Amino acid sequence: MGKILVVDDDRNLLELLKIRLESAGYDVFTALEEEEAMEAVKNQPFDLSIVDLQLLHQDGISLMKELHLILPEMPVIILTAYGSIESAVEAMKKGAYSYLTKPFEPQDLLLQIEKALENRRLNIEIKRLKELLEERYDFTNIVARSEKMRRVLVMVSQIAKTESTVYIHGESGTGKELIAKAIHLASERKIKPFVAINCAALPEALMESELFGHEKGSFTGAVRSTKGLFTQAHEGTVFLDEIGDMPLSIQAKLLRALQERQFYPIGSAKPVEVDVRVIVATQKDLEEHVKQGLFREDLFYRIHVIPIHLPPLRERKEDIPLLVEHFLKKFGQQMKKEIKGLTPMAMQRLMLHHWPGNVRELENTVEYAVAMTQQDTITEDLILQNQPLDLPEEPFKPFKEAKDSYEKTYLIHLLETCGGNVSKAAKIAGKYRADLYDLMKKHGIKSEDFKKPS
Ligand SMILES: Nc1ncnc2c1ncn2[C@@H]1O[C@H](COP(=O)(O)OP(=O)(O)OP(=O)(O)O)[C@@H](O)[C@H]1O
Ligand SMILES: [Mg+2]
Repeated sequence: MGKILVVDDDRNLLELLKIRLESAGYDVFTALEEEEAMEAVKNQPFDLSIVDLQLLHQDGISLMKELHLILPEMPVIILTAYGSIESAVEAMKKGAYSYLTKPFEPQDLLLQIEKALENRRLNIEIKRLKELLEERYDFTNIVARSEKMRRVLVMVSQIAKTESTVYIHGESGTGKELIAKAIHLASERKIKPFVAINCAALPEALMESELFGHEKGSFTGAVRSTKGLFTQAHEGTVFLDEIGDMPLSIQAKLLRALQERQFYPIGSAKPVEVDVRVIVATQKDLEEHVKQGLFREDLFYRIHVIPIHLPPLRERKEDIPLLVEHFLKKFGQQMKKEIKGLTPMAMQRLMLHHWPGNVRELENTVEYAVAMTQQDTITEDLILQNQPLDLPEEPFKPFKEAKDSYEKTYLIHLLETCGGNVSKAAKIAGKYRADLYDLMKKHGIKSEDFKKPS
């Protein structure tokens, strides 16, 4: 579950926390004094620590800094007395994960601990995955800031090394092919071929031969025997895109090939055995197709082993600024233009759009703007003119939902503009810094995520 260090000079509180945390399943070490805490950290690893702001000889912030020298990734939750909100904000700036004001509800503490540990686990996984990908390939082109996309990347790293069939589901332009390639590149099969076929683009008559190959003379026009994609992908990965459009006759043959790991090319009596990993993708709801008899149920269960859902861009708008930066760089290089960024108004238009075409649409939008701009910043007149801005799916959401969603979009946009500088953001928003921190906390937004690498 996790090992927690608690430092507080209040013996009673310390005892109480120990009991509460242990009964929640954590392994707890308590320290009344700074030195004891430092000693402990030098001798054993901790997953998280809880530090009182007011300690015996030191303040909690400087202890936190010392702890971070030894365990830089360990999240620290600061406990503060009522009324010292400024110091709590200071602690956050110096690297605390969050703070709690005494007296607090035990559930609040447990919730914060859980969140901090989950966040840390995600970060470690992503770092591992990025290292894995960067090590051998310069494969850093997947942008994922939102929790939803970070979860997808963690999933990719976990399943890449397995042999299981992967089922990628997502609207058009959400990155299905990109993720399929990432899985291949992070797997043991990476040096073998990645072969993709779009089932929606091939006529039925050609598809069987494309997939499984044919013998010379097996049908009119078959002047040579041809290897199918499955054979070409031997020891590698086959990517079946838009599998929902595969005709039923071919579905039957695919099912047999997946079950028996062998198949017969058209016109051949000799089975071919291949070793391939299969990744499929679909925009459509295949379960619905199964119900309507358009897709074989047995094949569905064969391929629906590890499902990965790619969320539409409108559900992860916090990815937009980073994606924009990524595409500005890409097209800037291609077109030999040095583009600094977007004006706040231009960025706002992007944040408000509904993105039916998802990341691909965003990519096209940025490409157009880079091509058209005469300056080194992109102004709003080059962004989505004559396009409807975000129209909610239902005409009206409940007021609270609409307000929350606006608040979140506003905060992301604001922090992006200020490069994560909360003081600056507070000034622009006309709010106290502490209030802004509260809002950020409510929406699970962290200022560090918006800091530009210096
Ligand atoms: N997270 C991301 N980071 C960077 N680029 C992305 C990301 N997601 C998608 N893209 C880019 O957006 C474009 C569309 O992605 P991709 O072709 O993988 O989507 P798709 O779901 O297969 O789309 P379609 O359904 O239209 O085939 C590609 O150029 C891809 O590189
Ligand atoms: Mg695709």
